[in-house]
Amino acid sequence: MSRFPYDAVVFDLDGTLCEAETGIVSSVKVAMEQLGCEIPAWVDLKLVVGPPLRDTFHTMLGVPENRVEEAMDFYRVDFNNRGRFLYSVYPKIRTLLRMLREGGVHTAVATSKPLKLATDILDWFGLTPLFDVVMGEVEGPQKLGKPELIRRALPERYHHAVMVGDRMFDVEGARGAGIPCIGVAYGCGSVEELREAGAAEIAETTEELQKLLCPGAEAPRGFFLTVEGPDGSGKTTQVDRLEKNLRKFGFTVRRTREPGGCAISEAIRGIILDTKNMEMCDTCEALLYAAARAQHVHQVIRPAVANGELVLCDRFVDSSVAYQGGGRELGVATIQQINAPAVDGMLPDATLYLAIDHREALSRRLAASTPDRLELQAVSFHGRVQAAYEQLISEDEERFLVVNAAQDRDSVEKDALKAVIDRISAYEQR
Ligand code: TMP
Repeated sequence: MSRFPYDAVVFDLDGTLCEAETGIVSSVKVAMEQLGCEIPAWVDLKLVVGPPLRDTFHTMLGVPENRVEEAMDFYRVDFNNRGRFLYSVYPKIRTLLRMLREGGVHTAVATSKPLKLATDILDWFGLTPLFDVVMGEVEGPQKLGKPELIRRALPERYHHAVMVGDRMFDVEGARGAGIPCIGVAYGCGSVEELREAGAAEIAETTEELQKLLCPGAEAPRGFFLTVEGPDGSGKTTQVDRLEKNLRKFGFTVRRTREPGGCAISEAIRGIILDTKNMEMCDTCEALLYAAARAQHVHQVIRPAVANGELVLCDRFVDSSVAYQGGGRELGVATIQQINAPAVDGMLPDATLYLAIDHREALSRRLAASTPDRLELQAVSFHGRVQAAYEQLISEDEERFLVVNAAQDRDSVEKDALKAVIDRISAYEQR
């Protein structure tokens, strides 16, 4: 028995788990253009999300019956190559799914999309492992229909099952399958549409949905991800892109950086990186990094992870080991000792390492902007930094996700995202 009101929850995909409108509407427009058909001015394109598209092309968009297959072909090609990558997972959905699973609830998807496409989308977002069953339509003209899809998504035995969907088709399908439906008004259907169709309850936001499905549940622990690399590895660009991508994947991202991340630590950053402070001794520098880190862990990182957030931190203690331990030759053991009370057990769950030879990295960086105090160090310094990073990685291969940063930016972004999502989705299903 589950401690939550429902022990089986079946979700619709488009407009319920994922923001799908942008992707679908944009591919529908492309298909209509390629067909040479005008979209009728009175059509609310939002409403193409939900019902089977084949019907929509004909009944809503006025495509002649004998050209519907052609429209579907145009749509499919564009959607597969482009439209589906415009999808995003609604905020808090990942947390909700983890709560349900931790509560022993059967979780499933029932969508009118072809099964292969639905699975591809869920795989891309690393969501598939969070479901017991994924049901989608079969290939060919004979369709199962929503009630049958929902029936097949349910477990053999359950006490209280519920469907969650954003359109009247979901409410009607649930009725056909003999279960109630919670309507979500953040998708493509309106509150009126859902009420009229007979939704048992309405959730206006994913937070409200969470309260209905998992009352009283605490947020599951978040994730602590750090990004490391030599100066000039393109780290800031990649952290920007990763942040954007992770938000699209439905994570509540807390972006932060070291040295810095909160007022006290940012003030310390100013002192460390100031080119006026050339007389700063190495031990002072190492202790300032550790001091900034202590406050950052205490004030930002630990509370955010406990609150279920994904902390994306640009540099962390590995930087101290590499730069002060290796670069400044203070020794790895000394740096780890100094940092032990600052880190206080809050080690990263994963570390993305942007691998690039320090000479190439530095020439890129120096070409881009005025160097700060640390970037002005000799080549031999950066060589020792790289060697120390490589030593750390060889000792902890499990934690490091190494990506080749000598590639073009888009390839680095793609590789980094894949590596990070694979790791986080393995963590989420534990
Ligand atoms: P950034 O360029 O990534 O903002 O980092 C600032 C500089 O600080 C960079 O040269 C690396 C250096 N650094 C250390 O030497 N030790 C540390 O612990 C951290 C976090 C950064």
